[in-house]
Amino acid sequence: MDCLVCHDTTGTYKKAPPGAGMPAKDVDLKFVAQNVGHSSRASCGSCHFNGGGGDAIKHADLSRQLLTPDRNCDVHMGGYDFSCAECHKTRNHKIAGRSSSVPASEGAVSCRDCHSDTPHYCGSLLDHHLNKHCKTIDCNTCHSPVYAKCKPTKTWWDWSKAGDKKRKPKKDKYGQPDYHWKKGEFKWKESPKPTYAWYDGYMERVLMGQKVDIHAPVINLTDPVGSIKDPSSKITPFKIMKGVQAVDAENDYFLIPHLFPRNKEDKTAYWKNLDWEKAFTDGMQAVNLDYSGTFKWVETWMYWRLEHEVMPANMALSCVQCHESLKEEKTCNRCHQDNRDVDFKAIAQKGTDFSFMMSKGRDVSHLKDTTDYIDFKALGYEGDPIIHGGRFKKLPMGYGDKMPRE
Ligand code: HEC
Ligand code: HEC
Ligand code: HEC
Ligand code: HEC
Ligand code: HEC
Ligand code: HEC
Ligand code: HEC
Repeated sequence: MDCLVCHDTTGTYKKAPPGAGMPAKDVDLKFVAQNVGHSSRASCGSCHFNGGGGDAIKHADLSRQLLTPDRNCDVHMGGYDFSCAECHKTRNHKIAGRSSSVPASEGAVSCRDCHSDTPHYCGSLLDHHLNKHCKTIDCNTCHSPVYAKCKPTKTWWDWSKAGDKKRKPKKDKYGQPDYHWKKGEFKWKESPKPTYAWYDGYMERVLMGQKVDIHAPVINLTDPVGSIKDPSSKITPFKIMKGVQAVDAENDYFLIPHLFPRNKEDKTAYWKNLDWEKAFTDGMQAVNLDYSGTFKWVETWMYWRLEHEVMPANMALSCVQCHESLKEEKTCNRCHQDNRDVDFKAIAQKGTDFSFMMSKGRDVSHLKDTTDYIDFKALGYEGDPIIHGGRFKKLPMGYGDKMPRE
């Protein structure tokens, strides 16, 4: 990467789309060079907001909205005006932060670097349980209960439908198109609930040229590693990018098409000639892999971790939003003695206010009053851990339902 793309402060530096990373011809390089400075959300975002070829397409939690975000959209970058490098600390230009997709890594970044393993210390009656939950639950499971809340993100991308120049794209309820002849069919989501999975810090990834089971109903291009039995795994929120892509039907690996025309004479680029055979032949040649000549469309899923868009503390999930067992009259007093000065019911319910989010125009009406935010059974529990016990132990005092006092 060149220096200016990260150190430009003028906002005039840009790259030419087919230029393989070279600056666009009309950039005044002298002016840009005379105005270099610290990296910023704008300079890092000039690439990262556009992963997948446009704003908020691939990364649900990185979009142009983060240039001037609302506090409720991202409390660090909005509320406290963090730059990217504030969290992605660099040393000798090694930028810390593991990616979900590519295995290169220059160090990890974690909420715990700044907030410690026991971040809840404000003296509230919830601190004890919240800090204990941090051993099992990733911070953003509670602190970022919906993703793409500032801008809709693409969640379905079917390449097999591309090529129909006559098909008129329709706009969905967020104003996003459902089709583009170059790229195929799309679906978008705004403020959906994440998918939750156990994650120990590692991802399985399908790399270029790697054999896959092309007859499987779905091929996971990235897949979190983790298990309920592993003490270092935590329940972590993900966006799953689903789609349809092409594999080589004989070599059993993914095909790389040549898309963007190199020049006017280009006869193989898909976006010029709309011929997959030619595009795959050329693309695979460019990456030095054999193409058998027959291809097949397969469904792919890609797990993307949600690391940004942390909401203000008062919008974290409440006890009741996960624990159905605390919904009725008995809440904390299932296990603790009643105290005249404490309204247990109120504090058990203090958390994400979906009505407030609705009033700001977010598409979250279906999440209001829900008490099953993370599906305990799908994660390997027998049911609500307050009733059935946690992953390594049951509470010593018997279970909520069968309290001696009842
Ligand atoms: C991928 C983005 C990126 C690229 C490319 C990049 N830098 Fe940096 N650079 C950073 C970040 C992040 C820092 C940490 C301070 C900051 O946020 O600006 C930094 C810091 C620096 C500093 C130290 C500034 C200080 O205050 O201590 C210098 C000097 C520097 N870069 C020069 C360069 C040069 C010269 C190049 C090209 C050879 C380059 N950088 C390419 C991101 C980048
Ligand atoms: C409040 C802290 C914070 C800020 C601010 C922040 N990030 Fe991150 N980012 C993280 C954490 C934590 C991770 C997870 C990294 C890890 O596991 O090592 C991450 C991961 C990433 C990843 C990898 C995503 C993936 O799953 O593949 C990218 C890319 C990234 N950040 C870019 C940015 C950019 C660009 C900005 C500024 C617009 C930014 N970040 C601002 C905390 C932050
Ligand atoms: C010129 C485009 C560009 C710019 C500018 C840029 N990045 Fe990246 N960055 C990439 C690409 C490409 C990757 C690897 C592919 C991916 O993760 O999607 C990457 C990977 C990352 C990762 C994952 C790290 C890893 O080892 O896999 C992080 C974190 C990240 N960038 C943060 C930043 C930050 C912070 C800045 C600003 C200081 C920045 N990037 C500026 C293009 C860019
Ligand atoms: C580079 C350090 C740094 C990293 C990394 C970081 N934070 Fe923060 N965070 C801060 C600072 C500083 C504040 C503001 C002061 C405070 O409340 O402690 C803050 C505030 C917060 C708040 C309270 C916001 C409010 O005012 O209501 C929450 C919640 C939070 N962070 C969660 C997270 C989560 C979740 C992550 C990981 C995705 C994370 N932080 C990563 C430094 C960091
Ligand atoms: C089980 C849900 C849950 C988990 C997991 C969780 N938090 Fe919190 N967090 C909350 C709630 C709820 C509040 C508001 C507490 C209150 O108002 O008493 C909060 C408050 C905070 C605050 C504001 C300071 C304070 O003491 O109120 C910070 C900072 C914070 N969390 C950071 C984190 C970080 C970092 C992690 C991961 C290491 C994390 N949280 C994990 C639910 C959670
Ligand atoms: C994001 C969902 C979520 C939220 C929010 C949440 N919990 Fe839990 N809770 C869990 C999970 C998962 C376990 C099981 C932990 C384990 O396997 O050890 C658990 C276990 C428990 C247990 C029994 C295990 C033990 O030893 O502590 C209690 C008691 C409990 N939670 C109370 C609370 C209270 C009080 C709150 C609000 C401050 C709360 N929970 C908020 C998911 C949640
Ligand atoms: C299913 C039983 C259960 C429920 C429900 C429960 N707790 Fe607890 N709580 C415990 C147990 C057991 C402990 C003792 C320490 C431990 O094992 O975590 C504890 C410890 C605490 C502590 C720390 C006490 C100390 O002396 O340090 C506080 C404060 C607390 N709980 C508050 C609450 C609040 C507030 C709620 C409701 C929002 C609640 N608890 C719901 C079982 C429960």
